[in-house]
Amino acid sequence: MLMNFHNSIGVFDSGFGGLTVFKSIAERLPNYNYIYLGDNARSPYGDHSFETVYQYTLECVEWLFEQGCPLVILACNTASAKALRNIQQLDLPHKYPDHRVLGVIRPTAEVIGGMSDSKSIGVLGTRGTIKSESYLIEINKFFPDVKVYQQSCPMWVPLIENGEHEGEGANYFVKEYLDELLQKSTAIDTVLLACTHYPLLVPKIRKYISSDIQLVSQGDIVATSLADYLDRHAEINERLTQEGNQLFYTTGDSQNFDQHASVFLEKEILSRKIKL
Ligand code: DGL
Repeated sequence: MLMNFHNSIGVFDSGFGGLTVFKSIAERLPNYNYIYLGDNARSPYGDHSFETVYQYTLECVEWLFEQGCPLVILACNTASAKALRNIQQLDLPHKYPDHRVLGVIRPTAEVIGGMSDSKSIGVLGTRGTIKSESYLIEINKFFPDVKVYQQSCPMWVPLIENGEHEGEGANYFVKEYLDELLQKSTAIDTVLLACTHYPLLVPKIRKYISSDIQLVSQGDIVATSLADYLDRHAEINERLTQEGNQLFYTTGDSQNFDQHASVFLEKEILSRKIKL
């Protein structure tokens, strides 16, 4: 039987990381149809310039629009930090007034400040996300009395994209960036994994961080925020098909994608390769 993917929710990331958000969204909202796109061939985005991240992200978003997705979630902090505003302000109003693109930074910033007793939060992200200071700015908008300490972890996404995150070699880089972050303040009691790839490193991160410090991943936060958005936006919600179908695309090697995605999502994934 041919499955219908028109009017799906598009979920985009530079690679595998967005699957951590996709998993939570699909568990929370299982009836919708989803198309996931990982730009694995051009990942990591973390060290690319603003212009490059914007161009790559826009290409992926437009491709998802062409597949019939009226709503796309940027399940990527780097893309949310560097491309979302331009897409929302420059591209959507002129070219796609009926389409919506949402990011992961604002919904996270809205709640993370309330999770820290010491009002001291550590934020781990890619160089692009950290340099943009998006979390610093957004968290302080909602929680002006919260102190935010940032640390970039440039080696973490390459380790994950290359399937090396569970190996011994990853230990050095996991410990190094955590030590650097925690040296910034002894008051940090909450650490935000502000890159959707990082939840895949949680078992290792836990080895090098005190159990008193809570680690926050974004999946559930983004899923709750999306459910709330769909409740408030009937004009988008009514357009979305609800047949529970899921489709996966990658710009990289589809066998490699299937291997990673099947382990992570705990079911068989057969992705299709596309060229942008
Ligand atoms: N998952 C992306 C994020 O949340 C990783 C970015 C990258 O490709 O470096 O930032």
